Amino acid sequence: MSAPLKDLLRTSDLSKADIELLLETASKFAKNPLRAKKALAKRTVAIYMTKSSTRTRLASETAVAHLGGTPIFLRGDDLQIGRGETISDTAKIISGFCSALIVRTFAQSDVNELGKYASIPVINALTDDDHPTQLLADWLTIREQFGKDIKNRKFVYVGDGNNVAAAWLIMGATMGAHVVVATPGGKWAPKSSVVEQANKIAKQSGAKIEVVTDPKEAVTGASVVYTDVWMSMGDSEADRSEKIAALSPFAVTNDLMKLTAKDSIFMHCLPAHRGEEVATDVIDGAKSVVWRQAFHRRTTIQALLYHLTKGDLKGNK
Ligand code: CP
Ligand code: NVA
Repeated sequence: MSAPLKDLLRTSDLSKADIELLLETASKFAKNPLRAKKALAKRTVAIYMTKSSTRTRLASETAVAHLGGTPIFLRGDDLQIGRGETISDTAKIISGFCSALIVRTFAQSDVNELGKYASIPVINALTDDDHPTQLLADWLTIREQFGKDIKNRKFVYVGDGNNVAAAWLIMGATMGAHVVVATPGGKWAPKSSVVEQANKIAKQSGAKIEVVTDPKEAVTGASVVYTDVWMSMGDSEADRSEKIAALSPFAVTNDLMKLTAKDSIFMHCLPAHRGEEVATDVIDGAKSVVWRQAFHRRTTIQALLYHLTKGDLKGNK
């Protein structure tokens, strides 16, 4: 038997069976947040963030508390890492005190290194390249709307080809979905390595992957329209005007939503910039499920902590 999955470093670490288990447990935590209130009793979880966060921090701290543990929040400059202590030494020290590490930072390679040297589970809470915990919340929200039968449904991300777009492709591929990512292409397209990986997963799962540059064609008949901010944390301000101009046709407006399926929903990981990537009447309108999505950040992180610390996940290896 292969070893259980230790960390969630990338969205691609999760198998479909892992995701199904996590969504099922998260649904239970949605109904009863305290159903495993001793799972992390007398244990601590470090939450280390070098980028801002509203939802992920609140969801993570609340999830730990609901499992009976104590969260220890560490801001970027709180640790000696900023003064030259190595990532590997830091990982070993945190492993001596805590039962898991949730980390949000810039470079994916830093999170990978923490995973390599920590003996405890390390969870990627967003990097420049990926946002796996977000996608668990997103897919639980999708499941609640449409159930398990996703045949003949199209799941469309519109906007910047960023970390969330990458995670959208990989998660959709793993779930066997028809996923579309529409971006202006060029500098703002998803990384070709991610698209390749999504296609590779799709060959096994039966998913259909499309990466396109026409937002109208992309959303026509869509069940889900998903977008994210145009300027991500860490993006170069020097690119702002060029980027906003390129992305303007990708704004999710009511006109764009009119092209979607009758029962379509609008999704956004938040924070949102009304009037940029999404119109106010869309995000605050009847099709928007953004608050349910945000609610599920806690339920899914709680499920992830619960199963990862018990060694229940199998991973993809
Ligand atoms: N969606 C999300 O990750 O939000 P925060 O940046 O507020 O954590
Ligand atoms: N793409 C955004 C997501 C924020 C949750 C960022 O990285 O800033």
